[in-house]
Amino acid sequence: MKIGLLVGRENTFPQAFIDYINALALPDITAEFCKLGGTRMGEPPEYRVIVDRISHEVPYYRAYLKNAVLQGAVVINDPFWWSTDDKYFECCLSDKLGVAVPRTMVLPNKDYIPEITSESLRNLVAPLDWQAMLDYTGLPAILKPAIGGGWKNVSKVHNVEELVRAFDAGGQLLMILQEFIEFQQYVRCICLGKHNIKVIPYNPLVPFAERYAPDPHYLTPALHERVVHDAWTLCDALGYDMNTVEFAIRDGVPYAIDFLNPAPDFDSFSIKEENFQWVLENLSRLVIAYARGEASPWSPPGTTVPGHDYRWAHTLRGGETAAGVLGAAVAEVGHTAVRAAEAVGAALKRGGHKKGAHDPGATPSPRAGEKAAKNTARRKKGDQAGDTVVG
Ligand SMILES: Nc1ncnc2c1ncn2[C@@H]1O[C@H](COP(=O)(O)OP(=O)(O)OP(=O)(O)O)[C@@H](O)[C@H]1O
Ligand SMILES: [Mg+2]
Repeated sequence: MKIGLLVGRENTFPQAFIDYINALALPDITAEFCKLGGTRMGEPPEYRVIVDRISHEVPYYRAYLKNAVLQGAVVINDPFWWSTDDKYFECCLSDKLGVAVPRTMVLPNKDYIPEITSESLRNLVAPLDWQAMLDYTGLPAILKPAIGGGWKNVSKVHNVEELVRAFDAGGQLLMILQEFIEFQQYVRCICLGKHNIKVIPYNPLVPFAERYAPDPHYLTPALHERVVHDAWTLCDALGYDMNTVEFAIRDGVPYAIDFLNPAPDFDSFSIKEENFQWVLENLSRLVIAYARGEASPWSPPGTTVPGHDYRWAHTLRGGETAAGVLGAAVAEVGHTAVRAAEAVGAALKRGGHKKGAHDPGATPSPRAGEKAAKNTARRKKGDQAGDTVVG
């Protein structure tokens, strides 16, 4: 089985990763750079697992990867979810999951493609109430792209004038405005396979090459535990197998700052040798487990429980989309049937309305509920074994 790697210009990680896997000399696994040049409809991928570091900037790769998932390959990271994600949604999700996050709002764009005129925008309020926005986030505030990286178009603003100037410079980018977290500590977590998390002190205020500064005692054990838990919660919910999650720590609370890094910096000179080796070892272990079907993206290695089964996950499981959606629907009907049967049973016990229990037109029979419950259990077992996921 082959592991394929899609990369851009980075040059310390790719060859080292391929060499690391090939040096294991496994009888069933080899790794190489993917070679692609136009893909036919339904074409089976040559690779069992593909590690994608660049499809956000090469649209053909993204299209190729979606079909690869449909044909049964495992892609790190899931190309469907990556296409959907943005920092605003992530903040909303984080808030819902109980992971501390700065107050954040999303703004209408400054500019649009030429075909969009003011008539096209009649749903938008104008002018925008800048002061109300800053009242919500507080000052200073951060304005940054909803999808972005490399600190491009990230601005710290101190008043309405600076906000409007930074917003105007954003052009066609979708921007978010965020409370600035005045932090005492800052960490970046490299997250592999959702649950495998390395917390590294990271100082965003010093030059690039000095930012990662390994120090195992940087956080108290309790804070370290909370950071790991929160990073796990986010990666599990988002479904990323390769990500970095940043936290700014203010008054002992870790606030999630940036957790949309699905092609994280793995350069040895920036993350430093010890972390680099950790990435090579743990990412190799992950792709080998996925290739062999010993784990699936929905139940990563080293876990006893499968990842949370979020609703969108069913759509994202390319290879089993139809079956998955149908399965989910059957399970939902099953749950309803079980609940109905329980209600009828309770009513019977109370000596209440008996007719309904024997009237197939009125409520499902208790046996229908049992059967549905069995179906649900079977489906769940399949998820844990990974047999419905990686095909
Ligand atoms: N809400 C915030 N509070 C405090 N600092 C912030 C906030 N948002 C961003 N920053 C600072 O700006 C930096 C860049 O922001 P962010 O990480 O969101 O952008 P990015 O372009 O994705 O960067 P990267 O390439 O490092 O992932 C952060 O490392 C952090 O230092
Ligand atoms: Mg980022």
